[in-house]
Amino acid sequence: MKLSGKTEVYGVIGYPVKHSLSPPMQTKAFQSLGIDAVYVPFEVKPERIKEAAEGLRALNIKGVNVTVPHKEKIAELVDYLSEDAEFLGAVNVVKNVDGELHGYNTDVDGFLQSLLDEGVEIEGKRVTMFGAGGAARAVGYAVLKAGAKFLNIVNRNFSRGKEVGELLGKRGNVLVFPLKDGTVSTLLKDTDIIINTTSVGMKPDDPPLFDYSLIPEGITVVDIIYNPPETPLLEAAKKKGCKTINGLGMLLWQGAFAFEIWTGRRAPVDVMRKVLEEELYG
Ligand SMILES: NC(=O)c1ccc[n+]([C@@H]2O[C@H](COP(=O)([O-])OP(=O)(O)OC[C@H]3O[C@@H](n4cnc5c(N)ncnc54)[C@H](OP(=O)(O)O)[C@@H]3O)[C@@H](O)[C@H]2O)c1
Repeated sequence: MKLSGKTEVYGVIGYPVKHSLSPPMQTKAFQSLGIDAVYVPFEVKPERIKEAAEGLRALNIKGVNVTVPHKEKIAELVDYLSEDAEFLGAVNVVKNVDGELHGYNTDVDGFLQSLLDEGVEIEGKRVTMFGAGGAARAVGYAVLKAGAKFLNIVNRNFSRGKEVGELLGKRGNVLVFPLKDGTVSTLLKDTDIIINTTSVGMKPDDPPLFDYSLIPEGITVVDIIYNPPETPLLEAAKKKGCKTINGLGMLLWQGAFAFEIWTGRRAPVDVMRKVLEEELYG
C-alpha cells in the first residue's frame, strides 16, 4: 500500500473503539478497488466529541463511521441529516463535503438489506422485537419503514420500551410489552418475524431471553448478534424449522452503504463479508 500527499483519510469514532471491525473491513474495501485512502480508528472520549467533529473539518477527514456512545451527540453537531438519521436522532456515518458534515444512519437500510439477502420481506408482516436500546431504535424503525403490519416491542425495562414505542409509534403501529413469558406466549402466536436486539446470547452463560419452546414453527427469527454466529435463540429456532438470520449481514451492509456514501462507488460486498467472517470466526 502506497501513501501519498493525495491519500484520503477515513475512520471510525467510538469509545471504546479497539474492538471495531470497521478498520479491517473498510481498508480491504478501499484496497480492492484501488482507492487511495486509509481508514483508521479514533478513540474519542464522550466529552470530546464536539472537538472531534470540528477536527474532521479542520483536518479534512473525508468520512467516518460513528459508534457507541457518540451516535446521538454527533447528530446534533453535523450540518445536514438524512431522513432516517433525523427521525432517529442518531448518526452512524458522516461524510465531509467541503467542510460541511453530512450525517446518515445506515444501520436502518443495513438491517433491511441483510433480510433481503435472505429473501425475507417485511411488508405486511407481524413483527415482535425484543429490546429497546440503541440498536432497537434503528431496527424497529427499519421494520416500520419497510411496511410491517405492526411491531410489538418487548423489553425488560418497560419504561425504556415505552420511550422507544413513543418514538416509533410516529411511523407505524407499535405496541409495547414487558418481558414476561405469559405475555410473550400470547404475542408469538401472532408473529411472523421475531427479532432479538438485546445483548442476551452474546455470552455462553446468558440465561434465555424467554422460553424458547414458545417460538412458533417455521417463522423467521433474526438475532442481530453476530458473535457467536448462532445464539441459543437461533439454535432453538432452527430446531423449530424456522428461517434464521444473524447480525453479520447488518454489520456488513451498514459498512457497505457507508462506503457507497463516501465514494459514490458500489461497495465490494463479497470482499468485505470475507474480512468480517475471517476476523470473527477465523
Ligand atoms: N449486527 C449489527 O450490526 C449490530 C449493530 C448494533 C448492535 N448490535 C448488537 O445489538 C445488541 C444491543 O446493542 P445496543 O447498542 O442496542 O445495546 P443497549 O443500548 O445497551 O441495549 C441493550 C438492550 O438489551 C437488553 N438487555 C440487556 N441485558 C438483558 C437481560 N439480561 N435480559 C433482558 N434484556 C436485556 C436491554 O434491556 P433493558 O432496557 O431492560 O436494560 C436493552 O433493551 C448487542 O448485542 C450488539 O452487539 C448489532
